Amino acid sequence: MPTSSIPVIDVEYEQPQPAAGVCSTRHAWARVPPEPSPEERAALKDRIRRLLKEYDAVMVSHYYVHPDLQDLAEETGGIVSDSLEMARFGHQHPARTLVVSGVRFMGETAKILSPEKRVLMPDLDATCSLDLGCPIDAFSAFCDAHPDRTVVVYANTSAAVKARADWLVTSSCALDIVRALKDKGHKILWAPDRHLGDYIQRETGADMLMWNGSCIVHDEFKAFELELLKKQHPQAKVLVHPESPAAVIALADAVGSTSGILKAAQELDAPEYIVATDKGMMHKLRALNPGKVFIEAPTAGYSATCKSCAHCPWMAMNSLAGVAHVLETGANEIRVDPALIPRARVPIDRMLAFTAALKAGQPAGALVPHLGAA
Ligand code: 13P
Ligand code: SF4
Repeated sequence: MPTSSIPVIDVEYEQPQPAAGVCSTRHAWARVPPEPSPEERAALKDRIRRLLKEYDAVMVSHYYVHPDLQDLAEETGGIVSDSLEMARFGHQHPARTLVVSGVRFMGETAKILSPEKRVLMPDLDATCSLDLGCPIDAFSAFCDAHPDRTVVVYANTSAAVKARADWLVTSSCALDIVRALKDKGHKILWAPDRHLGDYIQRETGADMLMWNGSCIVHDEFKAFELELLKKQHPQAKVLVHPESPAAVIALADAVGSTSGILKAAQELDAPEYIVATDKGMMHKLRALNPGKVFIEAPTAGYSATCKSCAHCPWMAMNSLAGVAHVLETGANEIRVDPALIPRARVPIDRMLAFTAALKAGQPAGALVPHLGAA
């Protein structure tokens, strides 16, 4: 049994969403920690292994963070996964402390599901353009204006936005949940990612009213340049995350969440793959498919902005040094307004129950009430 505790730092409750400009992409890139030397890297990993044991903590990492944080999470009994499995794993794991390497909404979801646990993150300013683009006041007004619609929000949102929602989805379960809602007669208010929403609408035919948000990473993939790249690699299959524009999705051989992309790469038998998602994903794709070649989908070309160049600047703020620091000092603890937690938990619990039923081969649609049912 662990005997010591990570120091607790008392801070006032902070707004989960930083004010505009607090951590823009420019600021985020400027704050990406330098690469450690091989000696520093080994020493940091040793320190983290020891601290995790000492403080009964476990690492929960996303596929987009630095390979060191992915490998160390797995090696120490934690997880590297998509956002849905991060939520499920953090909730079910018995550790007293979760060290979440990813972006802020991932830490907040972990805290909402397990308020009794300490949730630490290497950098609390690691946000997400979808979260930033969906402020609660404007979103609430949008919901108020459409009371006849069932509110479905993406996991990449603040705790306050989740507390306004009926259902939460991630890209690995959004199609199934929206299809089930449509089957029960629901009209949907969707936020915040318009590309993912459009994709789901095309696939399900559901009546969806969209918020106009986007991911700065996936929004930059270019269909014209992707077609040219496909011509240079005629054998390559194209794997696309559904936060990408419709014209890019139209060129895909497989569309899926980060875990969906990983599964498709393992199941398809092509020698080459062009991958339209954050390049952090390449680490796991290459590790699990040693004989296959993975090529980044293009973000350059006409109208390119390259805010991300296919790597999320906020994900890039996570580092080994950051993990060691928060374990040692107790800094960067995620706080969610306790008054929000019970309501924010409702849509998350619904998503987890729905996806658990799907996984178990049970009729998940039975968990969705008919429109008008209590
Ligand atoms: P996944 O749920 O597919 O891991 O996506 C999270 C995310 O932020 C994608 O940009
Ligand atoms: Fe948000 Fe896009 Fe970064 Fe994912 S990759 S965390 S959606 S900005």
